[in-house]
Amino acid sequence: MRHFLNPLDFSVEEIDQVLSLAEQIRENPEHYAHVAEGKKLATLFYEPSTRTRLSFESAMLNLGGKVLGFHSENSSSAAKGESVADTIRVISCYADIAAIRHPKEGAPLVAAQFSRIPVINAGDGGHQHPTQTLTDMLTIRTLKGRLENLTIGLCGDLKFGRTVHSLINALSRYTGIRFVLISPEVLRLPTYVIQDVLEAKKIPYRETTNLEEALPELDILYMTRVQRERFFSEDEYLRLKDSYILDKAKMKLAPKDMYVLHPLPRVNEISVEVDDDPRAAYFLQVQCGVYARMALIMTLLGLTPTA
Ligand code: CP
Repeated sequence: MRHFLNPLDFSVEEIDQVLSLAEQIRENPEHYAHVAEGKKLATLFYEPSTRTRLSFESAMLNLGGKVLGFHSENSSSAAKGESVADTIRVISCYADIAAIRHPKEGAPLVAAQFSRIPVINAGDGGHQHPTQTLTDMLTIRTLKGRLENLTIGLCGDLKFGRTVHSLINALSRYTGIRFVLISPEVLRLPTYVIQDVLEAKKIPYRETTNLEEALPELDILYMTRVQRERFFSEDEYLRLKDSYILDKAKMKLAPKDMYVLHPLPRVNEISVEVDDDPRAAYFLQVQCGVYARMALIMTLLGLTPTA
């Protein structure tokens, strides 16, 4: 039995296979409409979500499976004090696979240790969000035709942004990847990611606070929201929340083939006037999330197309 808690749980070859399967599903969805008949996905969400929970549900329904779950701590027995370990033991009696989102880093790992079914990390605190990474990689492959030889700008809250941490983990295994880390001083990428990933693997990167000067050199700009829910001080959040606002004027500084990604939700960091720019790819990214999660569910359950 396999779990998917971190992009590094899969080899590069396995990740590429999941992405290729997602592309095949996108080409011929009818071939996959019944592969999960009789299977159930449990979504255990202790933290709010729109995209991740609903795209998992959509993915399982598209595969012909069924879904069950809860969408907040307060609507489950966690509110009465039940542990993650006991919850997943119980859910293992009800479902074939589980996706868990939790505000505490490492909660999906605990779940996996006590689970009798595959566990997928749907986001744990400020740590990892590996299925967003599959989504991001599928989007980049769709737009650029490759995952190698790219300069990726990561902009915003690089300290608490779990999507950034997972994406760096995953892309650092491809050749010719270079990162430009654009953030306020206090929201810089955590030292453990810099040391354990970028420096350990000798990945070229530079840090800057200036989005405008970075734009001309980028193939991909990955914008992120300042993660209000991870701040201890509301005043500090208010001071930092509008550090970067991508607008039409700034997009003029970017190459014509530089695409803008954002895991969403967006607050204020991409002006709505950018939405009509052909380089704005964040809603395409949302669609990719369904195919990526369909492919992941199939892979973890060992399902094959019926046609
Ligand atoms: N990208 C993402 O994780 O969005 P949600 O918080 O809405 O799931």
